[in-house]
Amino acid sequence: MALSISEVSFEHHRTALGIGESAPRISWRFDGHVSDWWQSAYDIEVNRGGHTQTFHSNSSDSVLVPWPGEPLESGEEATVRVRSFCPHRHANTAWSEPVTVEPGLLTPEDWQNAEAIVSDRETEVNATHRPIYFRKDFSLDEEVLSARLYITALGLYEARLNGQRVGDRVLAPGWQSYNHRHEYNTYNVTDLIQRGENAISITVGEGWYAGRLAWLGSRNIWGDTLGVLSLLSVTTANGTRTFIPSDDTWQSSTGPIISSEIYDGEVYDSTQEIQGWDSPGFNATGWFGTHAVKFNKTVLAAPDAPPVQRIKERKLENVFSSASGKTVLDFGQNLVGWLRVRVKGPKGSSISFIHTEVMENGEVATRPLRTAKATDNITLSGADQEWEPSFTFHGFRYVQVDGWPEETELNTNSITAIVVNTDMEETGYFHCSNPLLNKLHENIIWSMRGNFLSIPTDCPQRDERLGWTGDIHAFARTANFIYNTAGFLRGWLKDAYKEQLENNYAPPYVVPNMLGVNPARSIWGDVIVAVPWDLFQTYGDEAMLREQYPGAQAWIDKGVLRNEVNLWNRSAEQFGDWLDPLAPPDSPGEATTSSSLVSDAYLIHSTELLANISSYLSLSENAEKYARDRTNLTRLFQSAWISKNGTVANETQTGLTLPLYFNLFAKPEHYTSAAIRLTNIIAQNKYKVGTGFAGTHILGHALSKYDEADTFYKMLLNEEVPGWLYQVIMNGTTTWERWDSMLPNGSINPGEMTSFNHYAVGSVGSWMHENIGGLSPAEPGWRRFNVDVRPGGGLTSAEARFLSPYGLVQAKWVIVDGGKKKGCDELFKLAVTVPANSEAIVSLPGQPVRGRSRESSVVVRSGVHHFERCLT
Ligand code: BGC
Repeated sequence: MALSISEVSFEHHRTALGIGESAPRISWRFDGHVSDWWQSAYDIEVNRGGHTQTFHSNSSDSVLVPWPGEPLESGEEATVRVRSFCPHRHANTAWSEPVTVEPGLLTPEDWQNAEAIVSDRETEVNATHRPIYFRKDFSLDEEVLSARLYITALGLYEARLNGQRVGDRVLAPGWQSYNHRHEYNTYNVTDLIQRGENAISITVGEGWYAGRLAWLGSRNIWGDTLGVLSLLSVTTANGTRTFIPSDDTWQSSTGPIISSEIYDGEVYDSTQEIQGWDSPGFNATGWFGTHAVKFNKTVLAAPDAPPVQRIKERKLENVFSSASGKTVLDFGQNLVGWLRVRVKGPKGSSISFIHTEVMENGEVATRPLRTAKATDNITLSGADQEWEPSFTFHGFRYVQVDGWPEETELNTNSITAIVVNTDMEETGYFHCSNPLLNKLHENIIWSMRGNFLSIPTDCPQRDERLGWTGDIHAFARTANFIYNTAGFLRGWLKDAYKEQLENNYAPPYVVPNMLGVNPARSIWGDVIVAVPWDLFQTYGDEAMLREQYPGAQAWIDKGVLRNEVNLWNRSAEQFGDWLDPLAPPDSPGEATTSSSLVSDAYLIHSTELLANISSYLSLSENAEKYARDRTNLTRLFQSAWISKNGTVANETQTGLTLPLYFNLFAKPEHYTSAAIRLTNIIAQNKYKVGTGFAGTHILGHALSKYDEADTFYKMLLNEEVPGWLYQVIMNGTTTWERWDSMLPNGSINPGEMTSFNHYAVGSVGSWMHENIGGLSPAEPGWRRFNVDVRPGGGLTSAEARFLSPYGLVQAKWVIVDGGKKKGCDELFKLAVTVPANSEAIVSLPGQPVRGRSRESSVVVRSGVHHFERCLT
């Protein structure tokens, strides 16, 4: 198979229309598995305004190479092709497919005279905001050559041109710390407008911007009026540019959406639909005017993340009656999104849909939703109609339907679940011979999907759905393998840093922050070091790391609340080993491991990561300083928490995991004995999990590090609570907040916080990818990666794939009878695929990790490689 370039991307965008970078770095992936392909040079061909220029570079880099030539201007389109040369094979790839890139509006001035406008209609501010319909007619004298719509909202928008929906983003512009970074979107609308009469119309809902958020019922966090800011830029056949900006010549009204709230759902009254409101020439008598409001255009930013979209559809699996006779729909999967309803029924009759994750006592279980109503309600028009809500979403598997009309059959044709999340590229794949582990992995993916909706959230269903920082700290390493998270987390970290600066240098507990100033807490605050580090491991993007450095440094230098010896101030409140399974259900922070110990351990680890980051960024003075700090703090940690003979103040699973994984012991023999004690504690606990947020995501990695993967296999395969497979055995289809969100008798955990869709527990995915699948980066960005399978747990085969920045990485293994020829009962056979311009360090099982020296590993370059070794 010939080598080709499979994909060219700009920065971390797969679709590069309306990006925020004028000189976007370029990357390409290779396709096909030519052996020993190493790039020595590349050509980039750029076509701008009809002129083509080719740039040759003698560089082996194929990821994030500098933009050649002059930076692009706002709205300037360029088409790019790439080819790559390999000296060793005296060959080059063919030119890649041409890909276009086009920045959005790079400066506030580019918005011309567009203003953020709101309706003249007076409304009650401290209540749910009724969505507003904005419209404007305009005419064009010339044929349209090209047109772009730049748009954002004070709230969430849906735009239409001449009656047709613009683009396929939903819940746009998503959730940001709007006062610091307010995203706008760019659409190619050339095909939606024409010479002559046209109409632009935009519906705006309250969304996160002005809606109710969190359990205290706060609203209007970023503003109390719904509005829109847009600029339609049209280039006509004679080359002139016409702008249709949002301004006070627009009209506004209310329409069929009576309310649409993130937590509570949507109320839609079809009888209030306004015929023709989105077409040119509509008679807007009785509509309100609009007026401009102050808006700081310097916070406008193009998105870093891919858009939130409808990702899949899920068929209705079952319709049944609840214990009290209510009609309940089951989609067979706990998911995030909403329903699409096709229905006909008596005009003015209403249907309501209550969304829940689980059933309890034969009824949809609404208690875990707390104050979120998660209820959509539609009043029917009397005609055939198709409806989806616009500015809400729900986390659900079950839906209670009340008022369904007799005229329509309730079945797979009339109701479908639409899965909605940020449309990230799927990069990871995992499969092994144990079906329960495969199901666990599938559940991990579903929880990631559901909680990667614009920002990384704790949960998608109750009155939270917030960007809890501790949760993504635990999950990032797993997430980065499953989907390409680079743009998504890049944008979110920009907000985290801005919020941190307003929170005494401590990242707030949630980003965007809607809780007000909150005191520093470890692990949640450490996110600002850990997530940039994890991103760097996966994507190797030094510029992005540099962008994230000030946040990491500010946290360590100024954010952490320290005591007189520079460890954590012990009177600081902490979340600590949150949700330790032994903590009381109503007090998840009362863990068995001291929260001060946990915080100190994380502080040292973050300081070490900051030293490493500094040295990657060639900030050698800082690197030395933080390395010194790390050494001093470790000594202090030892005197505070570790006895002379190496026992830890809390000999718990977390208490031992942290010093083992973060290298906090004083003597080599302390590691050996602590690892033994950890495995003993685990065995005494019948291989059940004893860790919370602090320990769970690293427990397995710590055990593997000390050659105790077998112990972790037993934990992973344990089917009793607390353990990962318990949730699978209990028919979970996502990962849960609590090990026992559902109790063995099928009732719901009485704790107030009981979600069935939290990803922190799914952080075990990284252990599965790296130990069962064997894949991990050996240097930032996967140019060198490890293939180091730890077979165990009775598994007889597994396969992991990762779409690295270079191309497809794959490890596939099986254990077979070696027979007489090989002279062994268990022959481990491994096939490794290495993409061009990268290499793998392959270590074979069968020797203890500590003895697995460099000599026993082989380095292989691109191509497919086969290995085998007798295990017994
Ligand atoms: C969230 C968690 C979060 C925690 C911290 C909870 O309500 O759902 O996942 O990290 O609070 O207190």
